[in-house]
Order: sequence, then C-alpha cells, then structure tokens
Amino acid sequence: MDTNSFVLKGSVCYNTSPQEVRCVEGGYAVCVDGVSAGVFEQLPERFAALPLVDCGDQLIVPGMSDIHIHAPQYAFRGLGMDLELLDWLNTHTFPEEAHYADPSYAERAYDIFASDLRRSPTTRAVVFGTMHVEATELLMDKLEATGLATYVGKVNMDRNGGENLEEDTAQSAADTRRWLSDVADRYDRTAPIITPRFTPSVTDELMAQLADIAREQHLPVQSHLSENPSECGWVKELCPWSSCYGDAYDHFGLLGPRTVMAHCIYSDETETELLRATGTYVAHCPQSNAQLSSGIAPIRRYLDLGMNVGLGTDVAGGANLSMFRCMADAVAVSKLRWRLVDESLPALTTQEALWLATAGGGSFFGRVGSLAEGYEFDALVLDDSKIRTPRELGVWERLERYVYLAEEGGSLTRKYVSGRQIDLS
Ligand code: GUN
Ligand code: FE
Repeated sequence: MDTNSFVLKGSVCYNTSPQEVRCVEGGYAVCVDGVSAGVFEQLPERFAALPLVDCGDQLIVPGMSDIHIHAPQYAFRGLGMDLELLDWLNTHTFPEEAHYADPSYAERAYDIFASDLRRSPTTRAVVFGTMHVEATELLMDKLEATGLATYVGKVNMDRNGGENLEEDTAQSAADTRRWLSDVADRYDRTAPIITPRFTPSVTDELMAQLADIAREQHLPVQSHLSENPSECGWVKELCPWSSCYGDAYDHFGLLGPRTVMAHCIYSDETETELLRATGTYVAHCPQSNAQLSSGIAPIRRYLDLGMNVGLGTDVAGGANLSMFRCMADAVAVSKLRWRLVDESLPALTTQEALWLATAGGGSFFGRVGSLAEGYEFDALVLDDSKIRTPRELGVWERLERYVYLAEEGGSLTRKYVSGRQIDLS
C-alpha cells in the first residue's frame, strides 16, 4: 500500500442519511489508496500495519463542498451589501470583474483567493471565474496547486454586461473552445465547467452554442436560477417562449445531474418539477440570499422531494468563505422561512446542514462527502479545545458548537482530499 493509505484516530462524525449522524469517540477512520475503508470503534487487524495519525480528542469529519462561489469577487467581500442583485451586479460586481482583463491584477487577486480557500474547511468547490480566458487559466493553475478538487468556469456573457464586461457572441463561443483546448489534460484535480452567467447575460444563440460544447465535450454546467424577483421578471421578458425561468436553460439541454443551479428561491411547481426530474443540483446560498435581500429558498421541500441539493457561499454575495458559517446560515434562514413564509415546511436541523455541506454537495464530484466505506477520503480534523466551556460535551454537541463557534478559537489542524494531505500553513 502506498503513502496514501493511513488511519486517523479521533472523534469521528459523519452523516449516514440527511437526518442521521454517526459519531464514534476514539474511532478509527481508515484511508486505503485515497478511498475510505470505513470508520471503526476498534482498528481491524487487516489495517494494523498502516501508519496511524493520532489526532487525540480532535473531531474528524468529512470534507466540505462549496458548490457555488465566485473567485474574482473574493476581492470585494463585505463591500456594497446594501443593494439588491441587479443593482449590486452593475454597481460593484461587473466593475470588479472587468479588472481581470489585466493578468497582473488577476495574479494578485487569485493568489489571495486560492491560499485562503486552501486553508478553509472547503475540500472541493464549483467556481465561477470571469469571462477572461487568461485570468481563468491563472485561477485554475493556482487552484490545482492547492491540492483541492475544483470545477472552474470561464464565464460567458454576451449581453447586459456594460462596456467593459461583455463579449461578442461568436467570440464568447470561440474563447470558450480555446480555453477548453488550453486546459485539456493540464490538471489532475481541476476541471472545466461550462458557465453561462445567467439568462439576462446570455443570448439564446450563445446558450445554444454553449449547450453544444457541453454535449460534445461531456462537460458539466453551472449558472444562476430564480434568485431575485426583478431578475425573474426580466427573464420572462427576455425569453417569452419559456414555460419558466428553468426552461430557458432546459430548452437548450443545459439542466441535468451534472448541472449546478445557484439559488432556486422562486422556483414554481413547473420549475421545481423540472429540476427534480432532470436531477439538477440546487446550490443553496443562504448568506448571499440574505445579504442581497433575495429571499429564502425552500430547501426542506427540495430535500423532501429527494432533489440534489448542496451549499454555496456565493462569495461575494455571501461575505464568508467558511462552510461552517454557511451551515449555520442555512439553519437560521430556514427558521425565518418557517416563521415568516410557510409554517408547513419545518426548519433544517444542524444534522441536515452537515449533510448538505458534505454528502449533499459532495455527490456532484462522485462518491464524495462521507467517511463511509467506498467514498473518496476527504476529511477535516478540527481542534475545538480553545472554544472553552465547563460542560462535558458529547461528540455531536462538540461538532454542533463548532459549526456556530468555529471563528471563536476553533482550528482546522489537518485536511485531506482523496487521502492527500493539504498544506494548511
Ligand atoms: N447572477 C448573475 N451573476 C451573479 C453573481 O455574480 N452573483 C449572484 N449572486 N447572482 C448572480
Ligand atoms: Fe453566484
């Protein structure tokens, strides 16, 4: 067995279903060739010869997938949080993204983004770049070097981007093909994803060409859907032929189990059924939805329908990179939705939030997001000893507290992606 085989000993915790969590105090999480061989109370004899990393009393949980984040927006996190989506895009986002035409700006900005993401609880991410090919390739180079596993998209936008952030339709498709040929076979852990920004940014003609490229080259797709009432109204005007906003993507064949749609707050019955039937992933971005006054997505309903759902930070709509903060926000906004919008949909539990952050979004990457046997060995080791309390806490209570108090003395001490340790320095 190679060096990608080892045992972590500590207080292990992972979901066995969206509602249920298995906790093993002093347990053994076994990694063989980058894949989990299971979590055990006693170390089975057949693994006794593997190197053992004793994490003492620290928590060991599955790695987390941020399935919707904008790398170029990392530079203006926390600024301009007083506007709704469309004004926020025009006032803050598009001018910032226009800077990435300059490779030296992109180099500095993506250095910061990649090194902060490397040290965060995120093990995998589905990432928007900008429309610029050179900057997007720089971003992919830097993400590859972190050891994290990511999908990264060169953004397409051939309308409504303003003077400095708009492509010609034919050029956008040609640039996308050039980018795909540049990055083909260049990386182990970094893969391209087709990224029409959202319907208001992409003409029907370009949408059709992007769908052709995705189909021809077997590529996944990401975009935004039903985030804000003004955006939804605008799409009705732009695509009067569509039966719902989701149909403005589905019509071209862009929905499916390899597609992530961010937000899905205002999805009606038709759109929800379309998302469910196609297996499209919903990226729930609770902090962004609060900060941009967007609304609250009915995640409980999506879970009840058995849909594919994960969590996204949507930086810079959301200000924080932390998936722990994202989990806490998902629970909080679901409580507000229950109280203020619809008492028939119970709030999410912290167990369900952990499931969304790990197995829910992780499955977009394959067998990812659990420490059960057969999953890629993505894991976090968490030291909660400095989050002080006089109380005696069980493993689950410690993890629950870590979700809410990670910033108050919590420390990520080790992180693994497919059994490879990530440098956290
Ligand atoms: N819709 C289109 N572009 C964006 C973006 O950059 N952020 C968010 N939150 N929604 C969008
Ligand atoms: Fe977004």
